[in-house]
Amino acid sequence: MDWGLQNRLSRIIKPNNGKGVMLAVDHGYFLGPTERLEVPRKTIQPLLKYCDSLMLTRGILRTSVDARFPVPVVLRVSGGSSIIGEDLSNEKITTSVKDAIRLNVSALAMSIFVGAKNEHNTLVNLGNLVNEAEEYGIPVLAVTAVGKELEKRDARYLSLACRIAAEFGAHVVKTYYCEDFEKVVNSCPVPVIIAGGPKLQEREALELAYNAVTAGAAGVDMGRNIWQSDYPVPMIRAVRAIVHGNVKINEAYDLFKRLCNENPSESTIARKQTKNTTKKPKKKK
Ligand code: R5P
Repeated sequence: MDWGLQNRLSRIIKPNNGKGVMLAVDHGYFLGPTERLEVPRKTIQPLLKYCDSLMLTRGILRTSVDARFPVPVVLRVSGGSSIIGEDLSNEKITTSVKDAIRLNVSALAMSIFVGAKNEHNTLVNLGNLVNEAEEYGIPVLAVTAVGKELEKRDARYLSLACRIAAEFGAHVVKTYYCEDFEKVVNSCPVPVIIAGGPKLQEREALELAYNAVTAGAAGVDMGRNIWQSDYPVPMIRAVRAIVHGNVKINEAYDLFKRLCNENPSESTIARKQTKNTTKKPKKKK
């Protein structure tokens, strides 16, 4: 692996343990002002120091993240359809590698839609992006989006999608956790990280992260289960404890509850945007 590419990748997946915590805040690129990400700066700022890398679009990077804060950036460069449009899989590369270099990013991210109408185009886009990014030593994260193919979210389908992404040259693959996740990881020769998916109760989300990492995931690229929690900072810290601290589910959840009770002002700093939906965890006796 070229030095530059290896160096960039090691900002995202830490070489000491092969793991990373990526904070996903790119949802607006097809969902618009997603709940609790309406004012991105407010959501992102308190979480920045707890993530290894930040995944987002150039628009939100330029407007909502302090350029002086040294967080490695994973730049989403694909898009072109919205949640109310006809076909979510109709994506193209929308941000140039030149602009990504100007933004000093550590990796590029794009979605592939295996099994969907635009499977072919998105896979060819991935191949072309890898060709161009490798010229400059920039790794590519392939997001194996399922969209309307959600019913196919099983080890067989996700192994297929992840393996194809790796075959096309992706350096990291993001997918969903599923039963028999070991099969997905073992048949993919590059690191696999998991998306969190729609908001769950905090304990369930921690369980998801724990199960994925235990099955061999190289970490998480988690969004809604962190910043849609009423306690985003305790949540990202608990996820971090699982990914980097090897803690088990109960220990991580205890940490989450302790942080909520110890530091409510810090916990609720980003919670001024919309109504609360998460139950406050009970105080430990
Ligand atoms: C989806 O395509 C987006 O790229 C998100 O970054 C991804 O789904 C991870 O976010 P969440 O944990 O909210 O699912």
